[in-house]
Amino acid sequence: MKKKIIVTGGTGYIGSHTAVELIENGYEVILIDNLYNSEAIVAEWIGKITGIMPQLEIFDLCDINKLDDFFSNNKNIAGIIHFAAYKAVGESVNKPLEYYRNNLVSLINILDAMKQHSIPGLVFSSSCTVYGQPEKLPVTEDAPMQPAISPYGNTKQIGEEIIRDTVSTDKNINSISLRYFNPIGAHPSAMIGELPRGIPENLVPFITQTAYGLRDELKVFGNDYNTPDGTCIRDYLHVVDLAKAHVTAIKRLIEKKNRESYEVFNLGTGKGVSVLEAIESFERVSGKKLKYKITGRRAGDIEKIWADPSYANKELGWKTLSSLDDAMRTAWEWENNIRKRKQ
Ligand code: WQD
Repeated sequence: MKKKIIVTGGTGYIGSHTAVELIENGYEVILIDNLYNSEAIVAEWIGKITGIMPQLEIFDLCDINKLDDFFSNNKNIAGIIHFAAYKAVGESVNKPLEYYRNNLVSLINILDAMKQHSIPGLVFSSSCTVYGQPEKLPVTEDAPMQPAISPYGNTKQIGEEIIRDTVSTDKNINSISLRYFNPIGAHPSAMIGELPRGIPENLVPFITQTAYGLRDELKVFGNDYNTPDGTCIRDYLHVVDLAKAHVTAIKRLIEKKNRESYEVFNLGTGKGVSVLEAIESFERVSGKKLKYKITGRRAGDIEKIWADPSYANKELGWKTLSSLDDAMRTAWEWENNIRKRKQ
């Protein structure tokens, strides 16, 4: 009997890639999504890649009645991987209440449902944003959380605390939070990838859309930082490597291999890459010259952050396998493929 895993936000960027890895590792996957920032057809694309189209339930996790109905009709759930959340840093500054309500109420409802329906394991999609600008680099899991610079980042910090407090009093629930650095790229089949609505906030989709001709030019937000080439540094990891970490984490919980009821892991390559280095990588793999200009800094950007992934490497037996160029190449292949399909 296949173990059944719920993937909330399952038609989204990281959710869909994780669903592929789960199915390919023998799990039965049920996607829950309200399609606020994704499309239902992604479930079919997952089916095309794996040969198994996952069940897709379309509703909002903030609707506790719909959530209860779902779990009353879907028994023997081995675990939940919770991606569903609003995630645009800039937008969260302008719409704080929407972010707090959506991201926190959905998480609280999930935790409530786990208690009601005896679901033992939760993997939570967290973010390196919780560290703010770390004092020490590379950043380890015991680095202090800095005051969040955006409501989005704050919902991740508060979310982790809600989970920690819940599992510390409920022996039947264990949880792992995965703190992502900067996920980029797409599945090598180019069947799924990042599909931001409107103008992309994130660097790599903006690069590929500019190269494809959908955007005039990329704005590089500042080159006066205290870094070798003056542009911000991030830890860009391939989304498929990131997806694999979620399979490892939910398996760890199902097999009760976790050492504590609540564990946290940094997921990154351990290597810092500047904006200009990311652009160079894209130009190398695509053979395209990217049109960009240096502009002022973007409010809320931190200067530099990259992970110390040694704890995840050792404890999870997980490490990134793909290079920056691999990730950029798949991002570019995806951009070309999806534009052809959308024509
Ligand atoms: C990366 C670098 C920008 C766009 C955020 C969240 C994080 C996660 C990923 C959700 C920065 C520069 C960007 C552009 C640019 N979110 N940039 N021109 O801000 O590091 O992380 O997104 O899961 O939690 O905090 O990612 O891709 O927006 O920016 O120069 O048009 O690229 O200044 O230095 P960020 P990003």
